[in-house]
Amino acid sequence: MNILLLGSGGREHAMAWKLKQSPLCDTLYIAPGNAGTANCGQNVSLSITDFPSIRQFCLDNDIHLIIVGPEEPLVKGVVDYFKSNPVPLSADAARELKLEAMPVIGPDAFGAQLEGSKAFAKAFMERHAIPTAAYREFNADNFEEGVEYIRQHSLPIVLKADGLAAGKGVLILNDHEEAIREFTSMIRESKFGDASKTVVVEAFLSGIELSVFVLTDGKNYVLLPEAKDYKRIGEGDTGLNTGGMGAVSPVPFADAGFMQKVVDRVVKPTVNGLQEEQIDYKGFVFVGLIKVGEDPYVIEYNCRMGDPETEVVMPRLKNDLVELMLATARQELGRQSVEQDARFACTVMAVSGGYPGDYEKGKKINGLEQEINSETLLFHAGTSEQNGDVLTSGGRVLCVTSYGNSVKDAVNASKKVLAGISFEGMYFRTDIGYEFS
Ligand code: AMP
Ligand code: GLY
Repeated sequence: MNILLLGSGGREHAMAWKLKQSPLCDTLYIAPGNAGTANCGQNVSLSITDFPSIRQFCLDNDIHLIIVGPEEPLVKGVVDYFKSNPVPLSADAARELKLEAMPVIGPDAFGAQLEGSKAFAKAFMERHAIPTAAYREFNADNFEEGVEYIRQHSLPIVLKADGLAAGKGVLILNDHEEAIREFTSMIRESKFGDASKTVVVEAFLSGIELSVFVLTDGKNYVLLPEAKDYKRIGEGDTGLNTGGMGAVSPVPFADAGFMQKVVDRVVKPTVNGLQEEQIDYKGFVFVGLIKVGEDPYVIEYNCRMGDPETEVVMPRLKNDLVELMLATARQELGRQSVEQDARFACTVMAVSGGYPGDYEKGKKINGLEQEINSETLLFHAGTSEQNGDVLTSGGRVLCVTSYGNSVKDAVNASKKVLAGISFEGMYFRTDIGYEFS
């Protein structure tokens, strides 16, 4: 079968690497992809939010399945678009795939609000008694009440722009007056544009974070390997937040007892809640959790896989990813069970100098041709190819994932490979997995 994967980051390179291993996958297209995905399939220059052009591409190239990497097309309704404008499958393909039309893996726009609207996600959790920080939601209409609520609230206090704000919409504040200033700027001065017209104000939870990945067909689910990512730019988790500087899987503190609590208190109520509310959700639910004492609380939902978590989850997933995607589309995930590689997989992300602030692009990347042993994988993120050279084209440039019998072994193996790669301004954290080493 022919598959189209939407996206261009390290997540998509890891997914493309995994999809390509499936005997079910004939031609893999990635739109728009990066210099790394070009080694797994064919990159196509399409905008991931230009749904009519994507549909035309599917018709012209006999595509049987679309997998959506990032949240933006989902929140903007790519699944809804293809529901209203289905791409028919040939009689043979329909019989073989046991599907009527080309499926798009991901939730519809309504379900994608789990990520696209923090207020929607919090209300969903409240309806289904899923543990999360206590909160209230405010906008221009109840602004004064919000100010009063903040004034009385314990510190630190967390302010969240309701909508998508490129990972920047969460503020954690230690001072009431500053919190009120930020709250005002979010609602009255559109600090995060329309995204902060509504603000969720919530209690600060103190603990250690992890990412849990659920693949659901709206009725059944499977759990993929969990991971922990390292969001801060600086060693020892200091400095500004980034998209993610590295990840480890499995997460040593997520033992069987804790994961059972996650399943019972979070995963099952989430999937049952989607079904009860008749939300058409056939895709990934990324649950951002925090372990407070021995108990899991939900910090956020995302309607997609994590990046760079996918770069450690895919290497540890033993199942055929295409089979899992088809089972999702057919609502047959109940028949699947996930097998995980027992080893650790750790990834270290190399970024452009200046990131997550301003940075330059177009730097030549050296050392990509080095021999890499079979325990290590190199995934591209912000890269592009030009006249045979691979150039940087984003803040997060590439990451190196290694397997190991310990976090330390895996991280060291990745750092060894990174030592042979260079581009002007290149930076990476040397302490990924430090708590477990
Ligand atoms: P989010 O965009 O919701 O993932 O928030 C970004 C980051 O802010 C999270 O990864 C957490 O580190 C932190 N965060 C968000 N909400 C809370 C909370 N209620 N308590 C403590 N930290 C939080
Ligand atoms: N690594 C966090 C995220 O993908 O949102």
